Amino acid sequence: MKAAEVDTDTGEMVSDKFRIKTPKPATPEAMADVVRQLTEHFSWTGPVGVGFPGVVQSGVIQTAANLDKSWIGVDGDALFTEASGCDVVMINDADAAGLAEMRFGAGEGVAGTVILLTLGTGIGSAVFTNGQLVRNTEFGHLVLDGKIAEERASSRIKEEKELSYKQWGKALEKVLEEVEKLFWPNLFILGGGISKEFDEYVEHLDDVRTPVVPAEALNRAGIVGAALAHGGGR
Ligand code: BGC
Repeated sequence: MKAAEVDTDTGEMVSDKFRIKTPKPATPEAMADVVRQLTEHFSWTGPVGVGFPGVVQSGVIQTAANLDKSWIGVDGDALFTEASGCDVVMINDADAAGLAEMRFGAGEGVAGTVILLTLGTGIGSAVFTNGQLVRNTEFGHLVLDGKIAEERASSRIKEEKELSYKQWGKALEKVLEEVEKLFWPNLFILGGGISKEFDEYVEHLDDVRTPVVPAEALNRAGIVGAALAHGGGR
């Protein structure tokens, strides 16, 4: 779990990032204590935006694919606000990254439908139509040949199965083609740590008709976007 102070006007982080290892098991209470420690580290009392790897509706966590299942049904906004004493607003992590990319990165000024996928432990998605976010899409859970997309093409799977860029790129291509068939977007943006290696695998995405670009805000998008989410409506 990591935090930084963000200038939401410029999209820049104005402090170093501070990290604390995600507790195991990643229960609501254990993570709330980490949020408290993170805000204390910065002596922060202002607004806090938190990106969460699951569906977040009006602050309530609805899914937790890669975290402790006891999160489901918890009012995360209330829990983290209580733990930290700061006003906390939670948002899906990929939606957060998308907000940052659309405002300060690869999606800036792009009209029509833009789809950002984050490739990490899971696959997250954020859909924008003329710059407006459609919240809580879950393309990482699209089922392809009986298996969910994030079990085929997340960067975790590339590591676990020791896939080459070609093998992994072709799995990702299938996911993009499926999304393309359903949404006909104007642009795909690929985020997550592996977007740094975009040049290594872009050639294996050649059957995708839609332009595909790497995220520009890279590893700061999640934090910057979570900050943007605060006050941005739920
Ligand atoms: C979750 C998404 C999340 C993504 C990336 C998926 O397993 O269902 O909500 O955005 O992982 O963390």
